[in-house]
Amino acid sequence: MSGESYDVIIAGAGIAGSSIAYFLRNRGFKVLLLDIKSFNRVGDKPCGDAIGKHHIDELRVPPPTGKELSGLVRGIDIFSPYEDIRYRILGDGFEINRISYTQKFIIEAIKGGVEFKEKVRVLKLIISNGFVSGAVISDKESTKKVRSKIVVDATGVARVLARQCPRDWPVSEELDPKDTNIAYREIRKLKEPIDEPEILRIYISNKIAPGGYWWLFPYSLEEGLVNIGLGVQGGVGNQHPKAQLYRYVLTRSIFKESKLIEAGGASVPTRRPLPSLVWNGFAVIGDAAYTVNPIHGGGKGSAMLSAYCVAEAIISALNEGDYSARKLWSANLCYMQRYGAKQAALDIFRIFLQQLSDDDLEYGMRRKIIKEEDLNIVSLQGDLELSVVEKAMRLLAGLSRPSLLLKLRAVAKYMNIIKKHYLNYPKSPMHWAVWKARSDEIITEFKVKVIKSR
Ligand code: FDA
Repeated sequence: MSGESYDVIIAGAGIAGSSIAYFLRNRGFKVLLLDIKSFNRVGDKPCGDAIGKHHIDELRVPPPTGKELSGLVRGIDIFSPYEDIRYRILGDGFEINRISYTQKFIIEAIKGGVEFKEKVRVLKLIISNGFVSGAVISDKESTKKVRSKIVVDATGVARVLARQCPRDWPVSEELDPKDTNIAYREIRKLKEPIDEPEILRIYISNKIAPGGYWWLFPYSLEEGLVNIGLGVQGGVGNQHPKAQLYRYVLTRSIFKESKLIEAGGASVPTRRPLPSLVWNGFAVIGDAAYTVNPIHGGGKGSAMLSAYCVAEAIISALNEGDYSARKLWSANLCYMQRYGAKQAALDIFRIFLQQLSDDDLEYGMRRKIIKEEDLNIVSLQGDLELSVVEKAMRLLAGLSRPSLLLKLRAVAKYMNIIKKHYLNYPKSPMHWAVWKARSDEIITEFKVKVIKSR
């Protein structure tokens, strides 16, 4: 590797880095994929391991098969805080073996000409004349500079390279700890098999999982094996999720005599996406670009989508020999159109949900203010139709909590506003600053007027 130069260096071979390597394979480009972990540990990030089938279908990537597949998913049950009410949302998906599935992309990428190096730490970005032009990397033998036309930061929430960028580059926007979820999960073998193992379970409760939820995801192909975890909002002084899980969840009878197989936790960005995925000679994807769904915290599918959008832009940039932000900008248009606009709308919804009490949440689900089918639309498209809320207001007129309904109407309005704004993402970096100022204004206005906090 010494003294060599590449077309693309990808830092991090989690699902984002491995899938961009996959999308860049077979093109004749010189691509270097690096991870600090060894090959047999890549993709091993604590996770619920669930992925919607629609992501895989949309991107036309190979689905998990054989040992990459731990379970089939048919839908999700969402339980109210007192667990009296259950919403069932049907939809196909998979419980994956996260290591094998990530390795699948790396193996295909290597077959398609990508060079993969394990146990290499990417340390520093090399920036010259306003362009990224390589990275400093280190393995157990040496530390060296490697030149590259484009560097991709896929280092997850650590954002090892993006955080080194100058403050006036849009890719440098930092993560507010309040826009994170701190999540902890265990894989356990239950004594008895679980009913309906193809249904994932999500439990909303501010007492147990403030600002997040706890989950029970069975691996349907491995009897009695479950992924059980809990996430809480970061930055607001919540209890550690592991303590909450042990106190409120693992004490339940279903977990009696269950066997601990694996444990671990990590933080998840749960906000709208980074305002730009690209700059001069540089791109950011996956958790490093905050591409996670703000409501359910699923980030694998959207990490792959961000990888796809950036790969398409890189292919065009390399073919034309132009690595500027202007040339790579199509990555933003692709991502914002296909997912970012929905993500921004869901960020508004997330901020609203996080300040509701358990009583409000129970009331909302009991009265079906938002019905299962509407919730499905919210989650798939980021649309909460004003008509849905207004209908609920008419039906529930005279009942308690009119302020909750009024607030929900305002939430629906702001979700629509921000979604439209993201769908109008500027066509070039020239108009970006004005767009960004308006984005910040919408979020601040929503927080001040509706949530009454900043
Ligand atoms: P990821 O963090 O996976 O990968 C980054 C890679 O970069 C790692 O391999 C790391 O070793 C490498 N790296 C870091 N620094 C480096 C350096 N300096 N040099 C070289 N390499 C470096 N999502 C989902 O879709 N379904 C789910 O059920 C869940 N559940 C869930 C539960 C819990 C507890 C958490 C914490 C998260 C989830 N998620 C999830 C989110 C999901 O795990 C996450 O969005 C993706 O794994 C992000 O993939 P990335 O590749 O972006 O980052």
